[in-house]
Amino acid sequence: MALTGLVLAGFVLGHMTGNLLMFKSSEAINAYAAWLHANKGLLWGARTVLILSTFAHIWVGIQLALENRAARDGGPADDATRRATIASRTMPYSGVVILGFAIFHLLHFTFRTIALGGATFAEGDVYKMLIAGFSCKPVAYFYIISMLLLCLHLSHGVSSVFQTLGLRNERWRSRLDGLALAYAWIIALGFISIPLAVLTGCLK
Ligand code: HEM
Repeated sequence: MALTGLVLAGFVLGHMTGNLLMFKSSEAINAYAAWLHANKGLLWGARTVLILSTFAHIWVGIQLALENRAARDGGPADDATRRATIASRTMPYSGVVILGFAIFHLLHFTFRTIALGGATFAEGDVYKMLIAGFSCKPVAYFYIISMLLLCLHLSHGVSSVFQTLGLRNERWRSRLDGLALAYAWIIALGFISIPLAVLTGCLK
């Protein structure tokens, strides 16, 4: 779980940072997208790692959720020792929404089979595609809500990685949890800034 989670958490950081080029200029984001597509080896290498990590992450996540359920059914819940939080308890649900979001997102911006917002998805013009895509308000709100759930999922997921690595002892627990929360918010707010900027007319 920790390894696949790390790969996926690293991917979202890279993807979010790249997307922020929207605020630089249309040329900057389009040049970045063109560069990615031109480097076929890098693109397909990253896609392969991403696809394998996603499937492995879902598989291990299902096992873990089933084990947790069995453990709860087997005896009285002990919240004091489990230290359950909203984020930890809702991991399977936030995970399912993020998966649904990812499928929608691929159909929307990668395969471009969802033309909501009457967008003319000009080939190679990612800037225009994002503005058109988020001009459809329900789509922009769906992205924003999904990113908030991604924040919840990451806040528990990243602190679990610290736990697996054996770093999350009593002394470091609250600091590492704070770091995980900060990471989750940076990712979520970075992504949210784009649909929000289109909704408010800051990006057009
Ligand atoms: C506001 C948030 C987001 C925006 C604006 C955005 C934007 C984009 C765009 C424009 C592409 C297509 C790039 C191209 O074909 O040139 C893309 C692809 C992709 N996005 Fe996002 N994205 C967002 C959030 C996310 C999140 C949260 C995830 C993961 C959970 C994600 C996963 C992906 C994946 C897997 C691809 C396909 C990459 C490939 O071509 O292999 N995106 N995104």
